[in-house]
Amino acid sequence: MTELNQQTLTDLQAGAEDAIGSAETLDALGAVEAEVLGKKGSLASLKKQLGGLEPEQRKEFGQLVNTTKSAIEAAAEARRSELSQVARMAQLEDERLDLTELRDEVKRGHYHLVTQARDRLEDVFVGMGFQVAEGPEVETAWYNFEALNIPDWHPARGSFDTIFVDLGEPEQVMLRSHTSPVQIRTMENQEPPIYIVAPGRTFRTDVADATHLPAFNQIEGLVIDKGITLGDLSGTIDAFVKAFFGHDVKTRLRPSYFPFTEPSAEFDISRADGSWLELGGCGMVNPQVLRNCGIDPDEWQGFAFGFGIDRLAVMRYQLDDIRELVNNDVRFLRQF
Ligand code: PHE
Repeated sequence: MTELNQQTLTDLQAGAEDAIGSAETLDALGAVEAEVLGKKGSLASLKKQLGGLEPEQRKEFGQLVNTTKSAIEAAAEARRSELSQVARMAQLEDERLDLTELRDEVKRGHYHLVTQARDRLEDVFVGMGFQVAEGPEVETAWYNFEALNIPDWHPARGSFDTIFVDLGEPEQVMLRSHTSPVQIRTMENQEPPIYIVAPGRTFRTDVADATHLPAFNQIEGLVIDKGITLGDLSGTIDAFVKAFFGHDVKTRLRPSYFPFTEPSAEFDISRADGSWLELGGCGMVNPQVLRNCGIDPDEWQGFAFGFGIDRLAVMRYQLDDIRELVNNDVRFLRQF
């Protein structure tokens, strides 16, 4: 049995502090603590011997045992907090997410396919000498209808499925149902000759389905100059279709009716299987529309056309459903 004296305690403390200092993990530290401070540990067995001492000595050594114990406990506590810190750092390092490693996978964004179609259309028309014009999305009845020769009693008003805005007199303010109001705004503000295209958003009460959207995009064309004929209209449409879709695509005009053009036509483009697909409306600007804008129809003539950009994108990329354009599913959009 180890003799109970000052030296024994000093040695025990030194040995314990050594072992604590060299414990590399919290588990190893726990083992050292059990060995020294535990019920069956070395300090406990020394304590047992206190009973065999004289009362004076017992008191003196009792105190020594307690200070030794406190010192060892303090050393263990200090080591525990060191080791916890190390363990925490190791865990953080383990869970660290190096985002720079993903850099190669980051996909660059690009324009939405409708924007791409719109940009290409603008390019084609600018290349043909047109300027790009814009107008507001909220319009008055004058620009959306009246100046375009659609008075309020005109049955054509009903065909536009207009979304009205609750402002001013009933049915006098609306989300524009086509881009034709930009024709009027341009003619009011600009002296002929005029060569413009006006792309932009348009709105109708249509319920979204595979071929309709309540908010869609149109592009309007307007030419006002001297001696303009239906041949110029037909040639312009053919030139733009060939530039946009390719040189083997044919175009044709079919008689139709719009209050703002006379004569009016729908224009179609040929498909690979030989069938025809309707693209938009067009015609010679109605003399009444020119008069409404202060232009003398005896001096100036013109043509206008308009068609849906979204539909054009659907045709060009052979999409099954026009709603794909607004679902904003990145897996779909990435393909274009
Ligand atoms: N604004 C017409 C529509 O939305 C299209 C059109 C434009 C027709 C210009 C003729 C001339 O249906």
